[in-house]
Formats: sequence, structure tokens, C-alpha cells
Amino acid sequence: MTIFHWRENLSLHVPAIDDDHKTLIDLLNRLHFMTLAGDDREAIGSVMWELVRYTQRHFRREEMLMRLSGYPGYEAHKRMHKALCERVEEYYGAYRAKPSRFNIKKLYDFMADWLVVHITKEDMKIQPYVASLGNVEAA
Ligand SMILES: [Fe+2]
Ligand SMILES: [Fe+2]
Repeated sequence: MTIFHWRENLSLHVPAIDDDHKTLIDLLNRLHFMTLAGDDREAIGSVMWELVRYTQRHFRREEMLMRLSGYPGYEAHKRMHKALCERVEEYYGAYRAKPSRFNIKKLYDFMADWLVVHITKEDMKIQPYVASLGNVEAA
């Protein structure tokens, strides 16, 4: 499995958004390494929950910036966020129901692929709008 690293072509040059994306990638990698290290299920579950929560938080932040900047594709973009949130929550629920049967690699690969495609194809479209707001600080 290839480890997913943040890279320059994922940058929107908007610190608030780039930092969120980096945090999401870090959380995914943390999950991966905890699994490799054989960490206990409770600890893995709590990082997975952090990933669920941080995903929701990042989407709220991005959606707020889209609204403020008048991005015309807001509704469609928000629907993609919602669909991803539902998937990640499903993964989390499946882990909680049967941790021994859960395949972290599946979650990792799914989320890593989703993030690359979403950031490069969708988040990039909002870049000029959000950049027009001026300096957006990382929260
Ligand atoms: Fe994003
Ligand atoms: Fe997005």
C-alpha cells in the first residue's frame, strides 16, 4: 500500500483549507500506523471518530467560505460532502459493530482516493472565489 502524503499539487494556497486537508491526511496515516502497530481497538476507534468529526468540521468550513465568496457550485459541492460524510460514518459504524472484521485498508484507500480526486477536481474550482476574500486564516 502506498502511503498518502500531502503534496504541492493539492495546494489551494488558502491556508485554512490546506491545513484541514493536511490534518485529514495525517489522521488517515495515523490510523494506518496504529493498525500496523496493533494498537488496541478503543484507541483506533477514537482516531476513527476524530476522522469523522474532522471531516465534518472541514466541510463546514469549506462550505462557509463558498457561501461567503458566492461560489456558484455551492449546492452540488455540498452534496458531495454530504455523501462522503455518510460513507465515513458508515465505516465508523461498521468498525464499532465488529472491529475484528473491519478492514482499515479499505477505509484508507477509499478516503485517500476520494480526497485526491475531490481536492484536485472540486476544491480547486473554489480556489479563485475563496482567494478573492483575501487572507483567510487557518482556524
Ligand atoms: Fe476540502
Ligand atoms: Fe470540498
